[in-house]
Parts: sequence; structure tokens; C-alpha cells
Amino acid sequence: MLSGVPKSFRESLKNMNVEIVNPIRKTFPDGEQYIRIEGVESSTEEVFVVASLYPLQDSKLIELYLTLDSLKGLEIAKIGLAILYQAYGRQDKRFLCGEPVSACVLYKPIAEYCDKIVVVDAHSKHSIECFDGKKVENVLPHGYMAKKIGLKVDFVLAPDRGAIERARVLATELGTEYDNLDKFRDRVTGEISVSEKELDVKNRRVAIVDDIVSTGGTLAKAVEQLYKAGASKVIAIVTHALLVGRAIERLEAAGIDMLVTANTVERSSRPRWLVEVDIAELVMEQLLK
Ligand code: R5P
Repeated sequence: MLSGVPKSFRESLKNMNVEIVNPIRKTFPDGEQYIRIEGVESSTEEVFVVASLYPLQDSKLIELYLTLDSLKGLEIAKIGLAILYQAYGRQDKRFLCGEPVSACVLYKPIAEYCDKIVVVDAHSKHSIECFDGKKVENVLPHGYMAKKIGLKVDFVLAPDRGAIERARVLATELGTEYDNLDKFRDRVTGEISVSEKELDVKNRRVAIVDDIVSTGGTLAKAVEQLYKAGASKVIAIVTHALLVGRAIERLEAAGIDMLVTANTVERSSRPRWLVEVDIAELVMEQLLK
């Protein structure tokens, strides 16, 4: 069963001969969603649901709840869920007094329905813990994407401390050194700043690794700092390229050479420097494990 899955991912599943069931979907006159699953027998041993929760996060989440509960009603023995993009994953703690832990509010109920959960590049260990202590397979696709496009770099950089583990994993796979920048986000205005750091990147090709590029602010600041430090080429490998607002202009102005991303979200604009890598095989491998 697929929910909000990008076209290219869907096509790959078809090419892998995965049997796809599309629920009947309707919208009531007042705007509420309706789902009904046909073509799945109660005796079916295992059903996989593959969902991407961007764009239209709220409505995609409702659709996912309804899909999982429909399967529960059909008494399917095992339900496996792959979340290609985990919306609300970044609000994984109470950063300011009076805030909710949105990720826990939304994913705790989802976990109850599932026997197996795979998330593609979850934002943090907290956003995974929100699945109510269920075992979650967190798939980091950076190495897979780098290999698929034959990427050659000399250095890997995390744009903030949160991405350091991603940088370590990718650098180990590519056999390069790695480092991280220190980013600060004003939790009220959303404004970010990156502290200046001496980086040993003169005349080197650098890959910046991260989970999400949204407004492009984080990535653009890292790209600028790398060029200032003498990098010869700056490539970004970021799993989920949302590219909202002025992100494309911002990254272009910073002089990014290439943005390598996965097909975890459907996007409307594709600048010439964006390279999308199909990760359907990698996700299915994890689901079938
Ligand atoms: C934050 O910790 C994330 O890992 C990303 O770096 C961040 O969400 C990117 O957002 P933006 O593109 O808006 O700077």
C-alpha cells in the first residue's frame, strides 16, 4: 500500500514486481478524508505500507492513520511500515517552555499498528524514540547515493553537530576525513548562524552531509564557509530536499555545485544542479529483512 509516495519511487516498485494496492480515497463535502481498502484478503500474512509525509504533512498523516486502521480491521497478521519522510520529526523535544513534542504526539499512535518500522534518515534518535519504544530501522542512504553516482570527494562536512554521525558514516565509507560546523538557531525567529571554523579543505572537493534541506539556510551557510576556506568543489548529499521558499535561489547564490538527494519526497522544482537518486531498492531490502 502506498501513501503519498513520489512517482519515481512508485515506478521502481512496479519494476521490482511489487504488488501495489491502492485504497479507494474520497473526500467528504466538509473536507474530511475517507479510505477503504479493497483487494487485500484477511488471510494475507504481511502487508507493507510505504508512506511519504511531505508535502501536505497534516493530510498525509491522517491518510496514514486511516490506512493503518483499515488494515487492522482486516486482521492482517503483520504490518510493516516504511516512512520515506518523517514529517514533524524535527520537533522531537520541547525546545521552548510551552511547546509540544510533536513527533511523539504523532508517531506514538502509529507505532501501535505496526510490527516493523523503517524510517529513511530520521532526524534524530529522539524522533525515533517517539515510536513508543518500538524497534525502528533507521536507513541512512548517503553512502548508497554516493556509490550510485560514483561520487569522489576528499572531505566530508556536517553543517551542525546533529549531523556528525551521518558525516562519520559517509566519511568511513568514502575513506575521507570529516568534521562539523557549529550552527545556532534562534528558536523564536528561526534565524541561523554558523560560527567560523578553520577547515582543512584548501583545493579539496567537499561533500556536506545532512538529513533535510528545507529553506536552504543551513546548507547555504556551510557552502559559503567552505568556499571561503578554499574548497575547490562543494557538493551536498542531503536525504530529503524539501527546497521551500527561496531555497533554490539561496543555494545558487552560495554557489553549490551539486545537490544529491533521494526520492523520498515529491517536489515540483528541480534545478539543474539537483541529482535525484532512486532508493526504492534500499528501502525494500530493509522492509523485507
Ligand atoms: C536541522 O537540524 C536539520 O538537520 C537541517 O539542517 C535543517 O532542518 C535544515 O533546515 P534549513 O534548510 O531550513 O536550514
